[in-house]
Amino acid sequence: MKILKKPAGTLDILPVDAIKRKFLEDRIRKIFDLYNYAEVRTPSFEKTELFRRGIGDETDIVSKEMYSFKNDEFTLKPEMTAPVIRAYIENSLFNRSGIQKLYYIANMYRHERPQSGRYREFTQFGAEAIGSNDYSIDIEMIALSVKIIESLNIKNLSTKINTIGSPDERSRYLSELKNYLSKYINDLSEISKTRLEKNPLRILDTKIPAEIEILESAPLLYDFLNKQTKEHFSNVLSGLDGLDIKYSTDYRLVRGFDYYTSTTFEVISDDLGAQNAILGGGRYDNLVEQLGGKPAPAIGFACGLERLMIILEKNDFKYPDEENIKVYISPIGDKAVKESLKLLFRLREAGIKCDMDFLSRSLKAQLKEANKFGAEYVLIIGPEELERDIIKVKKMDESTESEIKLNDLTNKPNLLFQ
Ligand code: HAM
Repeated sequence: MKILKKPAGTLDILPVDAIKRKFLEDRIRKIFDLYNYAEVRTPSFEKTELFRRGIGDETDIVSKEMYSFKNDEFTLKPEMTAPVIRAYIENSLFNRSGIQKLYYIANMYRHERPQSGRYREFTQFGAEAIGSNDYSIDIEMIALSVKIIESLNIKNLSTKINTIGSPDERSRYLSELKNYLSKYINDLSEISKTRLEKNPLRILDTKIPAEIEILESAPLLYDFLNKQTKEHFSNVLSGLDGLDIKYSTDYRLVRGFDYYTSTTFEVISDDLGAQNAILGGGRYDNLVEQLGGKPAPAIGFACGLERLMIILEKNDFKYPDEENIKVYISPIGDKAVKESLKLLFRLREAGIKCDMDFLSRSLKAQLKEANKFGAEYVLIIGPEELERDIIKVKKMDESTESEIKLNDLTNKPNLLFQ
């Protein structure tokens, strides 16, 4: 029969990778906790309307990449910012005083063309801070995202920062940009021609050299921003300087979501090839109101766990070794199997990581298996041992053997280590 395969762009996470992910997730959770961010979990799918209103109809994600079902009513979440804000409003988190600092680690779904570092199901970890428009929280958010990555000793990273202002500030700029680009309409790619009509800001993000050249003399969004926005930005930059966070400003950095206002940022890595963004984020001061809540400014970021793991692989990152089993029990014969099972569960109750042979193999094969698991002790129970009510204890690293009373061990499993 034909073997069924997983859908394109998805991953089977086998034990060897699951262990790495667990290590990274534990590390990430610890850092979020240290910064006083609390975890939030939301459903895997939401009403499609949430993403259309939140992310914007003309964005790539909403127009092309969503997994929608049940007559388009629901969509697997392609990102977490809109769901977190929906949960914030629906559960009245704004009633708690001060700023809400939330984090998540969750799977996202985007119907993109799969390639290295780009999947259709992937894991993001990220944070959202809701309720402050102070530049200090922009600094914390950018610093937090950089520090998580730095904590893994990753090199060859660059952090790019921009400010894109509010929709009001952008509207005058966008008409100037449209005027300017219309002169070059015949030199623009099909996608940029469409964007010129529907979402001209995204043209700034082009990777096509000829278009980059055209943009070099285009009007600059920064020149259209008001004094307050520029001041906010310069405070963010000097705050990052104060924390010794390295960055460069990139006035062409626009991100693929309509919700951003003012600060935007991205961390990119030379180790990632075409999909070079490892994390991205920014301020979105109008989203809460746009989703029906009482206005509240906010900022956040998200990082792709798979992309992080690709970079770690390239940097020869050493994950800590898996914890070996301490004890392996080797039964010989049917009666011994039952005694072994009792002992096995007794040791586990005492918190000792252990396993036993479930295949009635020869002692030689069992010892080989115990070695593979890195067991410190092998407990051998055969007919002769049962007869004498004892267990043979083999200390693997010293190749020594001793005996212990079965009853004594059952009553006090830690006797083994004395
Ligand atoms: P984003 O830039 O779309 O932002 O995604 C953030 C990160 O998720 C990317 O830098 C990348 O590492 C990872 N990522 C995105 N798409 C894929 C994919 N198809 N395969 C593998 N990894 C991927 C957001 O999602 C915003 N919600 C970030 C944010 C939070 N802004 C404010 N708060």
